[in-house]
Amino acid sequence: MKKPTLVNHPPKVEMPPDNHPVGAPIYQNVKFEFDDVAQTMRFLRGERPGFFYQRNSNPTTRQLELTLAALQGRDDCLTTSTGVGAVAQTLLALTKQGDHVLCFIETYNPTRYIIRRLLSRFGVAHSMLSIEDLSGIERALAAQPTRLVFFESPTNPVTKIADIAAITHLAQVHGALSVLDNTFAGFHQHGEYDVDVFVHSLTKYASGTGDVMGGAVIARAELIRLLRTDFGALGGALDPHSAFLIQRGLKTYFVRYAAQCSSAMRIARLLASHPLVARVHYPGLPEHPQHALAARQMREFGSIVSVDLTGGLAAGGHFAESLELFALSASLGSTESLVVAPQMMVGRDLTTEQLRISAVTEGTVRLSIGLEDEEDLVADLLQALDAVRTRSD
Ligand SMILES: Cc1ncc(COP(=O)(O)O)c(C=O)c1O
Repeated sequence: MKKPTLVNHPPKVEMPPDNHPVGAPIYQNVKFEFDDVAQTMRFLRGERPGFFYQRNSNPTTRQLELTLAALQGRDDCLTTSTGVGAVAQTLLALTKQGDHVLCFIETYNPTRYIIRRLLSRFGVAHSMLSIEDLSGIERALAAQPTRLVFFESPTNPVTKIADIAAITHLAQVHGALSVLDNTFAGFHQHGEYDVDVFVHSLTKYASGTGDVMGGAVIARAELIRLLRTDFGALGGALDPHSAFLIQRGLKTYFVRYAAQCSSAMRIARLLASHPLVARVHYPGLPEHPQHALAARQMREFGSIVSVDLTGGLAAGGHFAESLELFALSASLGSTESLVVAPQMMVGRDLTTEQLRISAVTEGTVRLSIGLEDEEDLVADLLQALDAVRTRSD
């Protein structure tokens, strides 16, 4: 073998059968081969297990999928390159021309965009209601056949709580599939409800460090089988190196989530008693309008605390800029704390009435509480509120 050939066919290193790596290896590899055409064809016909092409499957991403399915309490999972990719591919794969989708004002903006602007181009209609409007949901489902009910809980950014038992029951009675974007609640919550499909952004709590993107769709085997071919064709597969980083992040998921929730609870209480804060949105607070429902549905309330400042837009922007430990950035659920200023989260597609229902005000600031020392975070929040007060005096 000449050297140009050798570098393309390097020596194989086989692991002895009784010798295993403790951490799972990264199969940073697009192509997998079988020994002959007959076995390749058996695989392509679905008659034997194996791997062939990364866009459809890879051992590293598969390990992550199996882990996530087990965490969420379902049979199977498909991963995607981003959370929005998981949302978009699920919506595209589960709908067809003439279908109707029920969605909500209190939904992550890009999800609303996909349903309202993108699916409508392919003849998929939608209705948009408030997640709190259970009788409206019942009326909408009774009024026309509906393919999907797509919702979140807690919602982004003001942590409204969806009544999951009621919504999934109504969906089932009216023959619709329920899809829950469970990104805020995490993988260990809501599994006991009759949700047909869970969607997650892995960019948030799963990776934890916020340096990698990914998405997941978790459901019973029969639904994942239905989605798998379309997902392969749509092409938004997760890269195996990202899958490895997310799998590594999951090792600390439970301790991170618990610690972040505990700090978030303390911070929510502190902010609720501050004179510059008109309202705190945190489902763990007894004064949250749906606290009882949250306490029934969730073991932990998440790390997102949103506040409405009395000073409105200018105060919200100044508060966000004055924070030193909170990065003025998108995303959530990572180990470093993050802040979104009100100027950064306007729902441009919503009417005045829909904006009122969304409960996002001109002074709403979203905080994602990280893993920094709690005292440091408290001191930073208080100094930023002092800065707002000094400026307004
Ligand atoms: C509820 C929710 N779903 C989906 C996404 C999209 O995830 P990604 O940023 O990984 O595309 C986000 C991102 O913020 C989100 O908050």
